[in-house]
Amino acid sequence: MKGIIFRSLEELVVENLGMGAWNALLDEHSPEHRSYVSAVSYPDEELFALANGVATKMALPLPEVLGVFGRFLFGSLAAKHPTVLAELDTFEKLILAIDSVIHVEVAKLYDEPNLPQIDAKIVNDSEIVVEYRSPRKLCFCAEGLIYGAADHYNKQIEISHTSCMHNEDDHCRFVVTMLS
Ligand code: HEM
Ligand code: ZN
Repeated sequence: MKGIIFRSLEELVVENLGMGAWNALLDEHSPEHRSYVSAVSYPDEELFALANGVATKMALPLPEVLGVFGRFLFGSLAAKHPTVLAELDTFEKLILAIDSVIHVEVAKLYDEPNLPQIDAKIVNDSEIVVEYRSPRKLCFCAEGLIYGAADHYNKQIEISHTSCMHNEDDHCRFVVTMLS
């Protein structure tokens, strides 16, 4: 996982729990107390361990922590890469473009990123179905990222996670309902 993802987690933890809490998480879960560099890849296990550490510290279930993190992460990614989103002026356009535009650009900007496969289809004016496939099974983070994208366009949405790789399904499926 790229350092930019770890840096966003650091920002979220420092904002909510303080620098001391982040340093304590690093003491426990990060070799040599790392300073993460955005474009460098670090082991996925390290991100999972840090996220688990946050869940323990806050007495929250891990999926909830990953969801909150994903929602926050969207803002970090959008701020770091404004040009990638420049042409995507609606929530629907952005969701349809995750695989075909956004992550294609990401693959040009970063050296060998590990990206998921995301297929989105418009069902009708108020519903989009999104399918998520990835060996990293970060579907709760993906769900949070979709909520973060809705925040970005001031849209109200609701997501139901109707199939899940964590329940032995082949892939995850989100039904995104647009309420505004
Ligand atoms: C990685 C989903 C938008 C850049 C990921 C991952 C997920 C994801 C779930 C974790 C890897 C995995 O699951 O296999 C999404 C969704 C988006 C979105 C659902 C929109 C709703 C963006 C945007 C950017 C971006 C706007 C930047 C312009 C990245 C980067 C990584 C990543 C840099 C890390 C790759 C690595 O660590 O090697 N994305 N993403 N994503 N995404 Fe996205
Ligand atoms: Zn899932």
